[in-house]
Amino acid sequence: MEIVITGSAREAAIIAADAFERLLWGADRAVIGLATGSSPLPTYHELIERHGNGRVSFARTRMFLLDEYVGLDPEHPQLLRSFIEREFIDQVDVPANALVVPQCAPADLATAAETYERRIANAGGIDLQLLGIGRNGHIGFNEPPSSLVSRTRLKTLTTATREDNARFFGNDPDMVPHHGITQGIGTILEARHVVLIATGEAKSEPIAKAVEGPVTAMMPASALQLHPHTTVIVDEAAGQQLRHADYYREIYRNKPVWQHF
Ligand code: F6R
Repeated sequence: MEIVITGSAREAAIIAADAFERLLWGADRAVIGLATGSSPLPTYHELIERHGNGRVSFARTRMFLLDEYVGLDPEHPQLLRSFIEREFIDQVDVPANALVVPQCAPADLATAAETYERRIANAGGIDLQLLGIGRNGHIGFNEPPSSLVSRTRLKTLTTATREDNARFFGNDPDMVPHHGITQGIGTILEARHVVLIATGEAKSEPIAKAVEGPVTAMMPASALQLHPHTTVIVDEAAGQQLRHADYYREIYRNKPVWQHF
């Protein structure tokens, strides 16, 4: 696990966007896993800018959304699909139908998880999975406790997560769905490169526990310690409880140029 401590959320976004850019230049048909929420937004903005400058193209990519709410109207603006289309997909050259989202309509629910796993496998697996982290250490909607080998499935959101996400629902936690379909932790661990972004003081405790604490179903992000290629990018505030911060800085400062990500 590589830990990168940056001076700002903007700098974190630039480093994450560099990982995308390197993948897009190197892979013929990159398969990308997208997260929603606030943490990845600066990265999406940076990618939109690079696309505008002709630096990157998403024309030959496939995109998989990390998770989706269950129980919202298909036209609801806070469906995670709507969010990612609005904030990213519609502003770059991702081809029509290249975005794959768990199917959460009542008629699809029984088979949604299996179908989603099959679609990821048929695409050849995910090359780069972008993640945020919840205050309770969740990744996707993998709330604690979540099996560390879990696959895509329905999960019940915790009250804490529904309160955190209420800001997207008129500040009313009661409007936030109780359920979501999420890639499982085992699914996420199969991505070839995982990039987790966390900014702000509220993320300092889950980041310290996920990176330096025990691997446990009660801290789902700690499962990333088992992944061979994870990059955790934090700003100073989110990294402030890391006990070995100086060492992580030293590693990054002395990183051989050929090592990239
Ligand atoms: C988003 C997701 C969540 C968020 C997490 C952090 O698709 O699955 O796990 O990454 O809740 O959210 P923000 O970034 O809004 O703090």
